[in-house]
Amino acid sequence: MTETILPLTLTGRRILLIIAGGIAAYKSLDLIRRLRERGASVRVVMTEAAQHFVTPLAAAALSENPVHTELFSLTDESEMGHIRLSREADLLVVAPATADILAKAALGLAGDLAATLLLATDKPILVAPAMNVVMWNHPATQANLATLRSRGVFQVGPGSGDLACGEVGGGRMAEPLDIVAAVELALTPIRPLQGRRALVTSGPTFEPIDPVRYIGNRSSGKQGHAIAAALQRLGAETILVAGPTHEPAPPGVRFVAVETAREMLDACLAALPVDIAVCAAAVADWRADTVADQKIKKGAGGTPVLHFVENPDILATIAGRGSDRPALVVGFAAETQDVLAHAQAKRQRKGADWIVANDVSPATGTFGGDLNTVHVITAEGIDSWPPATKAEVAARLAGRIAAIFGGRP
Ligand code: C5P
Repeated sequence: MTETILPLTLTGRRILLIIAGGIAAYKSLDLIRRLRERGASVRVVMTEAAQHFVTPLAAAALSENPVHTELFSLTDESEMGHIRLSREADLLVVAPATADILAKAALGLAGDLAATLLLATDKPILVAPAMNVVMWNHPATQANLATLRSRGVFQVGPGSGDLACGEVGGGRMAEPLDIVAAVELALTPIRPLQGRRALVTSGPTFEPIDPVRYIGNRSSGKQGHAIAAALQRLGAETILVAGPTHEPAPPGVRFVAVETAREMLDACLAALPVDIAVCAAAVADWRADTVADQKIKKGAGGTPVLHFVENPDILATIAGRGSDRPALVVGFAAETQDVLAHAQAKRQRKGADWIVANDVSPATGTFGGDLNTVHVITAEGIDSWPPATKAEVAARLAGRIAAIFGGRP
């Protein structure tokens, strides 16, 4: 007789398992057992579709907990409301994660209990996708998963092989033991930038002409804000110095709102010393040399003539600091022509370690849009990344930054 002693790696961990409607749901019953074997407690939520594949009774028997299926259930609401369901979990696991529930989660829909829980939680989420290969390969599914990953959602699988629909290919749910391993990993967050300080600039600057007028630019702040959020997620204590944008301050990030380039410079210098500086702001190169005290009136002295003076270069100033120069200084180069040549020259001129170059010609839709195609230029060469959402670019850049600080990305 051989005796196997299972490591109780999940002792005291509370898993909320959401079973969505796919044939792989039968494996989720085994997953409940495997999680419990390792010491976790499991509460199960099932979508309506899931109940066509496995019964709540089976899930309740295996989890030794009531199974929740309804968004508006008097019993559940009085005994355990949906907010409590996710609040009292350490991790939400969606297995199988069907194309439908992934789409709902990516969009933030909340039409049933499972989708509502995914929206109403601040806990980590792990998804184990399972679906037919054509659905899996569909750009909609891939885009939804990319969105979820960029928000920090963990993914395990799918593998490929024979599918229940008779086809062969990707879309097979990960095996229960692989999901257990992913649960263990998700509950041990990797924070490779823990103990590091990061400064990020973002958005445009507004340079006043008079009390009501200013010169600005079309920067949305989406890329810079996403970088601050990504660095913070990897454990860096992050300060975001941002010009006027409509983007919300990312959770957990210290946010300093400024208007002009000079205010942005002051706020950045006040934030030093930092280990990492990422200058993603579209800082106005010039400002009016005098700002009128009163609104400039039409007609009085003909057409006004503005005289400009150059603004301080924040990136070059930070990169040129002495003892408090950040270990890594990253600049951006938004160009409309000869992107790589201009960006390489900019890296040298400004003394940055890396330059993230992107083409912002109007046809690319980058300025203000959600997608970005970037090239990362370092002393070692050029790394061109495929088009991705700004959140994905941010996550990848933060991963690359984490890698040079010795942690795992
Ligand atoms: O020279 P250019 O504006 O194209 O350089 C872009 C890079 O320099 C970006 O990283 C931007 O944040 C930074 N920059 C700055 N201060 C300025 C101008 C640009 O930090 N006054």
